[in-house]
This record gives sequence, C-alpha cells and structure tokens, in this order.
Amino acid sequence: MNAASPAGLRRPDGPAKLTGTARYAADTPADGAAYAVLVGATVPTGRLTALHTEAARGAPGVSAVLTAEDLPEMPLGPLVQPLPMRRSRNGAIDYEGQPIAIVLADGWERARYAAGLVRAEYADVRRPVVFDEAPDAVEREPLLSPPDEAKGDVAAGLAAAHTVVSATYTTADRHHSPMEPSATYARWDGDRLTVHDSVQSIGLTQLTLSTAFGVPFESVRVICPFIGGGFGCKGYVWPHQLLTAAAAKVTGRPVKLALTRTQMFTSCGHQPTTRQSVTLGADARGRLTALRHTSANAASLHGDHAEGATEASTWMYASPAIEVRRRIRHTDRPEPTPMRAPHQGPGMFALESAMDELAYATGIDPVELRLRNEPETDPLTGRPFSSRELRACLLRAADRFGWGDRTPEPRSMRDGDELIGWGMAAATMDTFRFAATARVRVDADGHVRVECGTQEIGTGLPGVIATIASDVLGTDPDAVEVRFGDTGLPPAWMTAGSSATMGVGSAVHAAATELKEKLGALGASGMGFAGSLGAAGFLEAEAGWGPEEGSDLAGRSRTYSMHTYGAVFAEVRVDEELGLVRVARCTAGYAAGRIINPLTARSQMTGGLAWGIGQALLENSRFDGHFGRFVSKNLAGYTVPVNADIPELDVFFVDDHDPHASPLGAKGIGELGAVGAGAAIANAVFHATGKRLRDAPMGIAEVMAAGAAR
Ligand code: MOS
Repeated sequence: MNAASPAGLRRPDGPAKLTGTARYAADTPADGAAYAVLVGATVPTGRLTALHTEAARGAPGVSAVLTAEDLPEMPLGPLVQPLPMRRSRNGAIDYEGQPIAIVLADGWERARYAAGLVRAEYADVRRPVVFDEAPDAVEREPLLSPPDEAKGDVAAGLAAAHTVVSATYTTADRHHSPMEPSATYARWDGDRLTVHDSVQSIGLTQLTLSTAFGVPFESVRVICPFIGGGFGCKGYVWPHQLLTAAAAKVTGRPVKLALTRTQMFTSCGHQPTTRQSVTLGADARGRLTALRHTSANAASLHGDHAEGATEASTWMYASPAIEVRRRIRHTDRPEPTPMRAPHQGPGMFALESAMDELAYATGIDPVELRLRNEPETDPLTGRPFSSRELRACLLRAADRFGWGDRTPEPRSMRDGDELIGWGMAAATMDTFRFAATARVRVDADGHVRVECGTQEIGTGLPGVIATIASDVLGTDPDAVEVRFGDTGLPPAWMTAGSSATMGVGSAVHAAATELKEKLGALGASGMGFAGSLGAAGFLEAEAGWGPEEGSDLAGRSRTYSMHTYGAVFAEVRVDEELGLVRVARCTAGYAAGRIINPLTARSQMTGGLAWGIGQALLENSRFDGHFGRFVSKNLAGYTVPVNADIPELDVFFVDDHDPHASPLGAKGIGELGAVGAGAAIANAVFHATGKRLRDAPMGIAEVMAAGAAR
C-alpha cells in the first residue's frame, strides 16, 4: 500500500455531510412517530415522592406521559451505564437530571413544552457528596481494573536519589459535547424492534435492547449510518435509548427522541475530575531512581468508573522502582464514562508536568531528560515493545519546532507585553483492539462493494476501508462502495479506543485478499472479468480479524508492551495584564504504526490537539457543591476551543510499523492526539511566567490566582 498515494486522500462520506444529505439518527423520517422529551430530576439525591403529570397530559398535542410504573422491567446486560434507572423504580434519585418521566407529543416543541409542566416532589434530599471538598474522603479500589502495580523499592530509590520532585495535579470534569446530541428512533413491528441511533457500537446496542426486552438478538436491528461526534459518550448504552424503545413498546407507535444540549451534560457521561500525585527521584544525571504515581477520580454514587490515569507511568520511563495506585471516590455526580483519550489524557498531564519539574530541578533539558530515561523493554513487566519510536518523535519534533533556540530560564523570552513560553511533553496511548468481520463483493462490471457493521464516527473510516480494499484488489478506490452502520451487515465491535483501523481495516484486508484469491482461481485477471463470475454475476468473500488469543477483554496485548507515542511542543503567549494564555504554535510528531490515510490521520491529530488545548486552557465543568449539579449545562458556560483558539498546527508522523498490533502494521491514532498537549502547554506557561500551574484548565482566573500575571 502506498501511504502517500492520492488514494489515501479520499473521504467518501464527505459530500453527503457537506451538502446536508447525510442522515443522522434524528433525521429519520417521523413516519407517524411520537416525539419524546425526557423529564429529569431537579435534585441530586433523595426520593421522588410525587409526580404531577396532569397539566402535561392536558397540554396540546400530548399523547402520553410515562413514568417508571408505566414502563416494563428492563433487565440490563453487561456494559450498560444506566444503573440509576433501575433504582428509580423505588423512587431513589442518584443524580440531577436522572429521568423521572418521558413526555410524548405530536411535535418536538410541544413535547418539550409539556415536559416543563411536569412537577415533582422529593424527600430526604441531603447535601450532596462532592469530590473536591473532601480531599481526604474514603477512596475505594475500582472493581474492573487492577488498581495497584509495583516493582522495586520506591522508598529506597527516593532515599538514594540526587533530586526528588513531588507534586499534586488535578484535571477537571469535562463533557464530550459532540455536535450531534444523542438521538434515538425506535419502532416495534410485533416482537421485532428497529432502532435508528447515534452510537459507537450498534452491536452493543442490539445486545442491550434484546436483553432489556427479552426478545431474540436477531429480532433487534440497529441502524447508525453516521455519528456527529461521539468521543466516548455514545460508546455505551444510556437510559434514553432504553426509554425510547420502551415508550414505543408501551404506546404501540414509533417514538423519536433527541437529548437537548442541556441533557447532554447529565445523560451520557463525562470525564471525571482527577487528583493525582507524582513523585520522581533521579540520580545526578537525571536517570530515574524511583517513580510513584497515585490517582483518584470522582465516580458516581453507585458506579465504578475508574480513570486509569497512572497506567502510562508503568511504561513511559526506565526506573528500577515504580509504584502506581488508583482509587475512586463516590460522589453525587452523574455517571462518568470514557472520553477522548481516557486514562492517558488526564494521566499524562500529571506525569509530563512532573517530568518538566524534574528537568528544572536537575537543570537538564526536558527533551534530553526524556531521552536519558528511554527504556529498552517495558519498565514494569519487562515485555518487549511491539514498536516504540518515541525517540524519533522527540528529536524530530524538537528540530522542527526550533527547540534549540530556547533559553531555559523562566520569563526569559518576551515579545513586547507578552511573555513567551516554550514547553514540551511526550504523549502515549494504550492500544485497544476489537474483532471485526467484513464482506467484499465484486460484480461482473467491476463494481466493488465492502460491507461491515461498523460505525462512521467522523474519522473518515469509509475512506480507510475503500483504500485498503482497492489496494488489495487493484481497483480505483473511488469505485469502491462502502456500506456500514447496520446490524444486518457482518458484525464489528465498538468504534472506540482508536481501534477501528486495526480491527475493521484488518478484516477488510482479509476479506479482500480472500476475494482476490477466488478471482485468481477463476482465472480472472485485472478487472475485466465479466463472464468469469458465473451465473450469479458476482463473487464475494467474508473474513474477520481479531486480536490474538491471550489479549485482554479490550484487546490489549499481554505479550508485548504495545502503545503509540508522540512528542508535543507548544509556544504560548501570556498577556501579563490579562492573565490570558494563548497557544501561538504547536509542533507534534507521532508514531502510531503504519499510516493508512495520511489526510484523515492528520485531521485526527489536529482534532486531538484541539482537545488538548481545551483541557489545558478552557474545559471545566464546574460541579456545584450545594445544588449537586454541573453549573453550566450549555456551550456558553462550558467553553470548548473554537477556531480562534487554535493556531497553525504542525503535525507529522514518523515511520513506524507494528506487525504485532495488526496485520496492516497500523496502530490506533485518534486519541493519541489528545494526550501530551495539555502538559506541553502547562510547561510552556511555567517557562513563560515562572509559575507552575498544576490544575487544568489554566483559565484567566487561575493564572491570576497563581500570581503568574501582574
Ligand atoms: Mo473513546 S473515549 O474510546 O470513544
């Protein structure tokens, strides 16, 4: 495959999206459907004692107002997030925004108006448990992942160290905020259920719905042609999807529901705030003698969501002694969920800030410090790296950025009223891999069709699929038709964890290869094989791919230390009068296995860098400790970067090929871009101002409070 060929530049889903003809879940024709709006609890704790629905029932166009008593029991399968819905049967309220009723009407505005007429009464509402007001609160081990890992003697390593740095860092609650809010259309035909949804796994949705309604798996069809951004908040199944299907079942007519932007802040997860401590010991030459990293994140009251913020500290740097510990603290927040670059996104903010502190404490250049601590094998497990090109990322990105011109002293670079800061950080991301199957078919006229039950989340996956299939078959990629987003197609798993190119791509490669062999057996040469395809007039092959046996449930290798890497360099300009930090330019180099489609791969990384800029400077969903809810449930109060916040981004990939990650040599790319930028910016702020800000985001108020402005 020629990564640089124009074939790598295609985006077959582009025209439909640009012209507005791409159909998203909420665009499904109403077809006699009722429009549904959820009513959420206005308190975060306590019990629902009365629900007054008469006014809503009498409002214009309203056909039904359903409460917990009206809906069937819905047993939940694995990986389902709406635990609280089960509890609301006995009136328990676990978070503000928890669904307590669903209003159906003949128009969305009418349903929304009527929803505002529902009145609830509550009892036993207590002061909510928050995260940040009780830093010494009881912390629990998460159930689903190993919380503690260690090797060597950290205490001895610290005692023997020439230099020790130790500090606490925090990251904020953040919301995914996709352009397309979650939406579901559900229709029952007897015992058969058809759902149009905006989800990162049509298969998991199918499984969850069939379990909830006690119908055969095959009786549920889930359709999701496009996702207008997910970033993790559409990865699992949430209450609104089950409630929409339940409302359709109870009322006997199709139901269409779209969450409001406000509901997107309570109804499908968020990235939880973390508090992390990092302690590093180093010898006189900057080589680590000990590394300790602990993290606690806010979880919901009954949930178990753990941010694996300490994971990367086990594989990033050589150290004879490593100790990581991870805890969760239950709070009265809605349920968190993975968000773009889970684990390493929050975790590397802390580790890479700490490495910068160590660089200053030892007087060693931050790039050089990282090079000196580059390990030969996985520092914790001793496993070989499947591929690791961090060194090349660091050196080449430093060169492109012009790092050699930096004067290391804080406050030493200035342009008029602006302080200039140059900072850098390394990036890494775990390698999740999921099984997939695909079918490739060729017609007598040479038309090629690829079918796979995956999802297009906005990354350009159809272009990757077309590129891979056309490369194997020697056809024109523009002539390859790609079908996806329907559980009737060969199954694939979640579009999450930056895994799609490995899983789906490898399955497409396998199916196309098999088809090519079949064509060869028929003596068909080139694409002029009309007549050789027999009476059917077409030939097809279906094949699959999955991570090797012994991998964990998320497809992570247990044989190799398998990760992606990068290096991010940022220049910030700090207005001393305003306390305003702006990113002026950014250079980032990544090593993520073989790059299949350079154009969309680059877009993934620039998108990720925008997420990193948001993490460092803007995104903070403040949780109100009195009312127990997120304060700004809209995009005015919860700020995300806009174009004006994003400078020119210089992104490149270093040559990398990982034969162990996938047969294509490819690894995951999407989430890697959202790692590292946060710390690079924080480190640049230190270089600019001489003040170390350890709490993300670093908004104007925080910069002022740190005394980093005048
Ligand atoms: Mo992603 S947070 O794995 O959708």
